[in-house]
Amino acid sequence: MHADLAARAVDARELMDDPGADRGMLERTYRLFRIVNAVVSRPGAVYRRDVRPRARAGQVRILDVGAGGGDLCRVLARHLARDRLDADITALDADERATAWAAAQDGGLGVTYRCALVAELVRAGEAFDIVLSNHLLHHLSPAGLQEMLADTRRLAAPRGLVAHHDIARGRTAYALFAAGTWPFAANLLAGSFIRDDGLTSIRRSYTTDELAAVAPPGWTVRRGVPARLELRWEQDDAGS
Ligand SMILES: C[S@@+](CC[C@H](N)C(=O)[O-])C[C@H]1O[C@@H](n2cnc3c(N)ncnc32)[C@H](O)[C@@H]1O
Repeated sequence: MHADLAARAVDARELMDDPGADRGMLERTYRLFRIVNAVVSRPGAVYRRDVRPRARAGQVRILDVGAGGGDLCRVLARHLARDRLDADITALDADERATAWAAAQDGGLGVTYRCALVAELVRAGEAFDIVLSNHLLHHLSPAGLQEMLADTRRLAAPRGLVAHHDIARGRTAYALFAAGTWPFAANLLAGSFIRDDGLTSIRRSYTTDELAAVAPPGWTVRRGVPARLELRWEQDDAGS
């Protein structure tokens, strides 16, 4: 399978973003995000590094932007409950189809599912100790990215953290995802957008250098495995 990965495929569209997308396929895609994220997004590492240390200091407010099916919020909620730590978690998505589906999966974990744009939360004066996103940045236009970074930074409480996690575009990531999902295309992944949209996502994603080049001052880009990147802003003691 050949794809031009030299530059971001900014005009490529993900099928799940189509307002007319088949609802059954869309919901199966939300359901399967849990498996994809367990393999590539390492939510346990996010919990241990960024969430647990802050939660040990007192109740934390966590916002997941572009939460999709909400599985990362539910993983964090389960870890926090297991460690008897207190948190208020909001799974935010601009797509009502995502928040409606995600809310029905909560199972008593107490995550809040909300359909809104981050700008609305900024206007409402909300503040969060930890603002996260996963696989969101590559969905945004260049202007949308800048707005997202400005708004998520505004939502950070004193000593707050903003961490946007995404795929890093590259040949290896594309080849591994194509090969790794191929055996499941006709069974586990059938009737979902996971394989098609996953490949499109990698084509739309940034490289570490590209993201560093467009990130405003104060943000840092970290490269992770497998083919991951993180755009991070943390308030320092001086409050900047
Ligand atoms: C690929 S999904 C990722 C879902 C989830 N974070 C995960 O990792 O499984 C991207 C999600 O971002 C949402 N989204 C896209 N642009 C958004 C925006 N500007 N504000 C909030 N959500 C947005 C989409 O509706 C979609 O549910």
